[in-house]
Amino acid sequence: MLKAQHLSLNSEILFKKGGIMQQTFKLRKFAPDDLQNVMQINRVCLPENYTDFFFMDLHQRFPETFIVAEENGEIAGYIMCRIEVGLSNFGFGGLIKKGHVVSIAVMPQYRRKGIARALINKGLDGMQYYKAKQCFLEVRVTNDAAISLYKKLGFEVTRTISGYYSDGEDAYVMTKKL
Ligand code: ACO
Ligand code: ZN
Repeated sequence: MLKAQHLSLNSEILFKKGGIMQQTFKLRKFAPDDLQNVMQINRVCLPENYTDFFFMDLHQRFPETFIVAEENGEIAGYIMCRIEVGLSNFGFGGLIKKGHVVSIAVMPQYRRKGIARALINKGLDGMQYYKAKQCFLEVRVTNDAAISLYKKLGFEVTRTISGYYSDGEDAYVMTKKL
């Protein structure tokens, strides 16, 4: 049986579909020098784009939940989040801290390698560091790839927001307890 400690100390492993797959990417916190690359990934992957101030502000306020994935010395994807105070998305209790995944994307050539899953898991760790009790996000109701990723990670649909996006599409709010 191949054990993790028999592999190189620098490489992490993923267990995928019963086999072992070498993880070829690395996660690290966003740094200001990554700004243009991350904004480019955001523009390529999503219609919701933001100003450089918006990205830098989230990095400055919540550095533990703004993570990038690097492969071959290139940024392959990012997750950027915000901590908010609000009512539980499950409809009980008073005000709690909630981690909001504002944006996550992985470049097309780096998809289906577990990068988004790893980014979210790292983001969830950061949210727990900030003492958030729930993590939530909005996703287009037709975004099957993202919805199935979130379901796999234990998120459930807690609400539908009609006409949430600027083109009129509805959003699911998906939430996971931390
Ligand atoms: N079809 C079906 N299931 C999928 C797909 C897909 N295209 N992509 C991911 N999944 C599910 C699978 O269960 C997958 O596990 P598997 O590969 O073992 O079957 C699991 O999610 C993990 O997938 P990852 O490899 O970690 O996901 P990836 O790194 O490819 O990134 C992402 C997924 C972020 C949704 C990517 O497709 C992307 O960047 N899309 C465009 C941007 C986007 O939609 N972002 C989310 C918007 S919502 C928001 O930002 C809050
Ligand atoms: Zn949002």
